[in-house]
Amino acid sequence: MCGITARVATDDSLVPLLESLHNLEYRGYDSAGIAMSNGSGLNICKQEGEVADLEAELTDGRSGPIGIGHTRWSTHGPPSDSNAHPHTDCSGRVAVVHNGIIENYDSLKRSLLKAGHEFESETDTEIIPHLVESGLESGLDAEAAFREAVGQLEGSYAVAMIVAGDPMVYATRNGSPLVVGLGETANYLASDVPAFLEYTDRVIYLEDDDLLTLSANSHRITNSDGAQVSRPIETVDWDPEDAEKGSYDHYMLKEIHEQPVALRQTLHGRIEDGDVSLDGFPPGTFEDIERVQFVACGTSYHAGMYGEWLLNKDGVEANTYISSEYMTTPQPVDESTLVVGVTQSGETADTLEALRSARERGARTLALTNVMGSTAARTCDDALFIRAGPEIGVAATKTYSSQVATLVLLAERLVRDITGEPTADHEARLEALANLPEHVETVTEDGRAARISERWLGDAGHFFIGRGPAYSVALEAALKFKEITYEHAEGFAAGELKHGPLALVTEETPVFAIGTGAYRKRLQSNVREVKSRGAPVIAVAPRSDEELLDGASEYLAVPATHPDLVSILTNVQLQLVAYHAANAMNRAIDKPRNLAKSVTVE
Ligand code: M6R
Repeated sequence: MCGITARVATDDSLVPLLESLHNLEYRGYDSAGIAMSNGSGLNICKQEGEVADLEAELTDGRSGPIGIGHTRWSTHGPPSDSNAHPHTDCSGRVAVVHNGIIENYDSLKRSLLKAGHEFESETDTEIIPHLVESGLESGLDAEAAFREAVGQLEGSYAVAMIVAGDPMVYATRNGSPLVVGLGETANYLASDVPAFLEYTDRVIYLEDDDLLTLSANSHRITNSDGAQVSRPIETVDWDPEDAEKGSYDHYMLKEIHEQPVALRQTLHGRIEDGDVSLDGFPPGTFEDIERVQFVACGTSYHAGMYGEWLLNKDGVEANTYISSEYMTTPQPVDESTLVVGVTQSGETADTLEALRSARERGARTLALTNVMGSTAARTCDDALFIRAGPEIGVAATKTYSSQVATLVLLAERLVRDITGEPTADHEARLEALANLPEHVETVTEDGRAARISERWLGDAGHFFIGRGPAYSVALEAALKFKEITYEHAEGFAAGELKHGPLALVTEETPVFAIGTGAYRKRLQSNVREVKSRGAPVIAVAPRSDEELLDGASEYLAVPATHPDLVSILTNVQLQLVAYHAANAMNRAIDKPRNLAKSVTVE
């Protein structure tokens, strides 16, 4: 995935375009580039490296009212100056930026080479400006040439194009996001709203096969047959400051500290008189459902595991699948199966594919997502929003907490509709859920994780163990730790240690034992197993779990709350451990190597 941006205005677009590229860097950051049109020719600057490097390179003469920009996460061709976008045709009149993969680029490139076109990069993208060039040479205008070019593409893509001397930006999408921002004196186009949020909150989400023609004061959307289509103008309720780093060193740290606010937004108006009130999901919504399947990737998969645990606990059949694996063995579904895509971005290609497959086979689909207008929200039968606000750091933090809080609410509705009974202990659990923001605040204000996180750096590995909902937190904590420190970390079900992983445990492998207050005796016996092999044990548990905390070499305490919710608090402590360890190692925390925020390729 990559970040695409465009601005068309009556004033100069260079500075706002660079700002929007900075705002999109979470989507990719191995190379960046812009193309500016000043009425006559195109000025292009692109290179390997981050947007700041591009900015330093830009000197006078690149300005213009119309421009497109790109920040890349490479798929076809390694990061290099020549593979950076925008790409142009032979004449240098057509410039294109692209996100996604063109599957039939090989055969298209062969025909173009035969026709005499010359290529400068190893990317699939470069065929697009050459296809447009062929159309222009055959007498088509820019819009028709663009339409004809994209009509030949197979795969998933979002594409934006400018042509020298033409006052428009042209764009289309198929499977990759594109959103239009309507401003007062300028119009915008981007892969995601934070690109232009400081200028406008009026947006149009493009749909697959829409072809956009955007000028400084107008927009027109047509379908693949050329007929005009109307898409609603929506208002985004995100605050521009939410997408800024403020006084924090990293977005990740800011987003960890934003969790109490994010959770208040998640829960706002959703717990009333000791019961769950979900807009659009009144009691009875799921009475025809018999089983639930969660499909998700990465951190969202760990949130899905927690949802599965909650439902199973109250007698509802539920399973969680890694989206890409779901596609290797599509699970049996029918109209009584609810398939929930857990995806903060709503754009993860693997999850979208799993949802599409389930829907085609007759299941009911639900997107549990953070992004209104995202592909998951628009293509599923229903969408339930986690309302965490924009998350920019590649490492998911506040969206995980908001996902799991939303899953507690959803589980309440599902269990009642499916079994006819409320969840066991539902009043106490909902009360604890309402207090969760306050409890998370206590954890984010606790400086202990920062103090101990450096202690074992450089050791052979960091292990995380837990039972029940803490097992999914063990996996999540290990993912977070390896993602931003680049150190070896693994999460295990505590009971599995003795079936193999114990062979790895030495004095050089700190073990974080995650307690929820339940399964105490068994977790303690797992702790004894690792302690007797000399491993330092760090207990992460509620204050009330004195035996676990006292028996460990170190501890990270969390407020005592309902045992079903404790794991959310322990996870916040472990987010802080990962953050401070990575910071001590001077890692690129918000942009870890080889990773990007939203993975829109399969
Ligand atoms: O947008 P999604 O929730 O679908 O993203 C899924 C994963 O790519 C994501 O959670 C990833 O694992 C995070 N970078 C982990 O911090």
